[in-house]
Amino acid sequence: MGLFVTFEGIEGSGKTTQMDLAEAVLRDKGARVFRTREPGGTQIGERIRSVLLSPESRGMDFMTELLLIEACRAQLVRQQLLPQIEGEGIVLCDRFTDATLAYQGYGRGMDMGLIEELNQVAAAGICPDLTILLDCPVGIGIDRIRRRASSQQKGNGPDRLEGEERGFHERVRTGYLELARKSGGRIRVVDSTGGVDAVQEKIFAHLQSALEGSKETCRFRKSSDRIG
Ligand code: TMP
Repeated sequence: MGLFVTFEGIEGSGKTTQMDLAEAVLRDKGARVFRTREPGGTQIGERIRSVLLSPESRGMDFMTELLLIEACRAQLVRQQLLPQIEGEGIVLCDRFTDATLAYQGYGRGMDMGLIEELNQVAAAGICPDLTILLDCPVGIGIDRIRRRASSQQKGNGPDRLEGEERGFHERVRTGYLELARKSGGRIRVVDSTGGVDAVQEKIFAHLQSALEGSKETCRFRKSSDRIG
């Protein structure tokens, strides 16, 4: 057993809730699970994350944003992911290289070729075996963020990226769906507008078939093997 799984989605898509459930179910079944996130995950990465997401960083140049995200990734991959994927077990990562294509590429309009190149260097060529893309309309995601902010679970207001205009989030969603179409089956789109349990069931079905598949194929494909 061994798998590198990433979770993606627009703001308020229910990613964290679903990752919590998936992690709990996998642990319950006796799997060794390592969970981390981007941007962040490492001590250095979490400090960069604060700079990236703080509303006080308003006015950050898009190139600065991209390079900080890739710097975070370089640290995470070398400090955590590479050692983890050499062992057995399941690595769950909250966002990875697809997020940069969706947010900085489709959302910000930055050069896709440059992002692909930086992703490749920062991620040292590793690519998820499976990516769960939680998809919901932008309006639903924004409502969820507002509710969370008013219940003060995550501070007093939206972070710098959550607070972007609606068109930005629409472009990110469209981008993710396009990436999924081109991914050759690696990115599985799960409609996250249903009930928490129904969504979890769909996710688990994908995890199970990936786990079965991973017994026969190479566990950690290189991103050069990506289709599309
Ligand atoms: P989250 O961990 O709460 O989902 O927040 C992370 C934020 O960082 C989210 O707004 C998406 C953004 N982000 C990018 O813009 N590009 C990236 O490559 C990654 C990993 C995250």
